[in-house]
Amino acid sequence: MSIKSVVQGIGHAVPDKVMTNHDLAKLVDTNDEWITQRTGIKERRICRDDEAASDLAVAASREALAKSGVDPMDLDMVILATVTGDYIFPSTSGIVQDAIGAKRAGAFDVQAACAGTIYALSVADAMLKVGHAKHILVVGVDTLSKFVNWEDRSTCVLFGDGAGAMVLGAEENTDRGIVKTVLLSDGSGAQHICLEVGGSRYPLARHYSEPHNHYIYMNGAETYRFAVKAIGDACCKVLEEAGLHSDDVDLFVPHQANLRIIESAAARIELPPDKVFVNIHKYGNTSAGSIPLGLYEAEKEGRLKKGDLVLTVGFGAGLVWGANLIRW
Ligand code: ACO
Repeated sequence: MSIKSVVQGIGHAVPDKVMTNHDLAKLVDTNDEWITQRTGIKERRICRDDEAASDLAVAASREALAKSGVDPMDLDMVILATVTGDYIFPSTSGIVQDAIGAKRAGAFDVQAACAGTIYALSVADAMLKVGHAKHILVVGVDTLSKFVNWEDRSTCVLFGDGAGAMVLGAEENTDRGIVKTVLLSDGSGAQHICLEVGGSRYPLARHYSEPHNHYIYMNGAETYRFAVKAIGDACCKVLEEAGLHSDDVDLFVPHQANLRIIESAAARIELPPDKVFVNIHKYGNTSAGSIPLGLYEAEKEGRLKKGDLVLTVGFGAGLVWGANLIRW
């Protein structure tokens, strides 16, 4: 029997602070009706000034470990997906590894924006299957509220902060586990979603004669067009490669960026609404946190049970996108 990468426990964390659409309407020229109709978002969670990505990641990881019953000392690797880590370096995964007492584990970050957790799961799956590890902690976390221009109504209404974490274990004699993953990218669309200043191209400490983005820039219309096609394609590809059909899927947990994008993806793969998990109204777009947060809530609500086939799909800055099929 081959080795499977099984999700043994899942945890989550979101900041306590809630920002509603009505709160936002006090900051910028927007309103609840526009945000709800165009995106499906009603409120989002926002970090305090003294709260960073690792704080959410550590809380989510502790919950995942407790649920799995795996001792932190038995973790071989911590893989953390984020574009909003505590620092440019060191990695946020290392901060988490230390905080949870995973003293035997290696640690590294994965940077694939809103598809980050899909990428991280794929790497973890490969390491578990070849025997490089027996237990891996995969964390998806983002704190995009820290990088939003609160005067730009076209972006600030979309994002929120959150984290999800999963303990994966290598198991034999089971049908459960990651079934198939597809990972895709198109760097020619890099300019559509970016944060220019703060890296080696435009270091923060320099002064520039030309203006550069200190905040998240997003070409919403272009991203929307890309997303609708990309996530439909990724879902079809992962199902085809697994030799499965959308009828086989028990639950669809897509990246929560826009309710209209989610609905069009579900329609493309002919999934009925009761098989589509949505929590965008509560959290907005939490980037790498979005899919694990969705999986966590779906399980908690009893919509995801052991043995169910779950389809996840993510897309974001890069451009990158991808999908996983997991036998829960
Ligand atoms: N409140 C009120 N009006 C607004 C707001 C707002 N918050 N934002 C924009 N508008 C106005 C615009 O100015 C425009 O007005 P105009 O017609 O007078 O010029 C009008 O509303 C329509 O604007 P559009 O941008 O055409 O609105 P659209 O229906 O395209 O929705 C949105 C915009 C929600 C951003 C959509 O394009 C979208 O969801 N794009 C995809 C975003 C995404 O998925 N990102 C994921 C990746 S993020 C990552 O990787 C980190």
